[in-house]
Amino acid sequence: MRAPLDLAAVEAMDAADPLRAMRDRFILPEGVIYLDGNSLGAAAPAVFNELQKAATQEWAQDLIRAWNTAGWFDMPVALGDQLGRLIGAASGQTVVCDTTSINIYKVLHAALGMRPNRSVIVAEGDSFPTDLYMAEGVASTRPGTLLRLEGVDAPTIEELIDERVAVILVNHVNYKTGQLRDMAALTCKAHQVGALIVWDLCHTAGALPVELDAANADFAIGCTYKYLNGGPGAPAFIYAAKRHHEDVHQPLSGWWGHARPFAFEQSYTAGSGIRRFLCGTQPVLSMRALKGALDIWDDVDMAAVRKKSIALTDLFIQLVEARCGAYGLELEGPRNGNARGSQVSFVHPHGYQVMRALIERGVIGDFRAPSTIRFGFTPLYVGYKDVWQAVEVLEDILRTGAWQEARFAVKTAVT
Ligand SMILES: Cc1ncc(COP(=O)(O)O)c(C=O)c1O
Repeated sequence: MRAPLDLAAVEAMDAADPLRAMRDRFILPEGVIYLDGNSLGAAAPAVFNELQKAATQEWAQDLIRAWNTAGWFDMPVALGDQLGRLIGAASGQTVVCDTTSINIYKVLHAALGMRPNRSVIVAEGDSFPTDLYMAEGVASTRPGTLLRLEGVDAPTIEELIDERVAVILVNHVNYKTGQLRDMAALTCKAHQVGALIVWDLCHTAGALPVELDAANADFAIGCTYKYLNGGPGAPAFIYAAKRHHEDVHQPLSGWWGHARPFAFEQSYTAGSGIRRFLCGTQPVLSMRALKGALDIWDDVDMAAVRKKSIALTDLFIQLVEARCGAYGLELEGPRNGNARGSQVSFVHPHGYQVMRALIERGVIGDFRAPSTIRFGFTPLYVGYKDVWQAVEVLEDILRTGAWQEARFAVKTAVT
């Protein structure tokens, strides 16, 4: 169904939006249309409440007792279970800890250890770079390990999957184009040759329904500061299917992953279950912020999130192409909403300047070199009228050539 093209119809879509009330749970500054929640999610008062409580009551009053009395020590697993419900993971398989980069290192290393007679890691050449850097780092600790890349060693990831492959590290949604992969099908293909698969869910968790258990996934990692709104630098997560827990040995063998952390033994014995993916002391205040952000999801129907996400992104593409098509913008990524994450990218030869001009006018998206302007649509707080207004500003910047003003050409960081 084609989205309507007049403002009244767009306002009617907002009026009929079942997620409309969720916007009130977030703080969105006056005069800003925020289309960058795929990079850093918006702030929520619920997050501040948790932070305030953790700092002024638990830390200030309970001091060290709070590790037990406030449940600080168990938070990585408790939050993991809470988050697990959003990614189709039954309890005891998800833990919140560290950063996505560090967690990639742990699971890739562990997966290679589970396939000792195999030497190949497969990844995507256009992956978010940290995935590749961490894969290189893991390979450098295991002589003979080869990294083979989609787009470099073969056109598609499927063509790289054979009996030599130990593990595949793959993004569910591509960070730049928004292309969505079929998790169940690729997982099945990996398993047919005896390989393991690690899903990067950074652009998926909180953006669309995920069914890790149903897809029979082996491992997943992801961050919580994008669509889950945990705040800048919020802790990441690891999912490991229960069937692997006793075989997995991750290399960052810190005391929090020990079977008996408070026995202070001299040598490492891995803890049981998902706790063995922990390393050291976790950032309690950031964890508590994340708890506030995750609590918001208790009232959210993920199917409604997906439906709105597709409608928002479809509308954006349709309006941009109808109104800005003459100015050199080209869609980068899927036209079919079912094959798309919750973001849309366009290529423009002067994308950097265009994005800077947009941000100056209050429409916040981001730029990815060399020429991609990227827009994220967080269904919990972006409305259809936001889409309409963002396209109006974009059209104005392109039609008037406002992006050509000299100050936009100066290279500064664009979010
Ligand atoms: C796909 C993907 N993986 C990993 C990361 C980042 O990992 P970290 O939180 O360790 O910086 C990002 C950040 O944008 C990402 O988009």
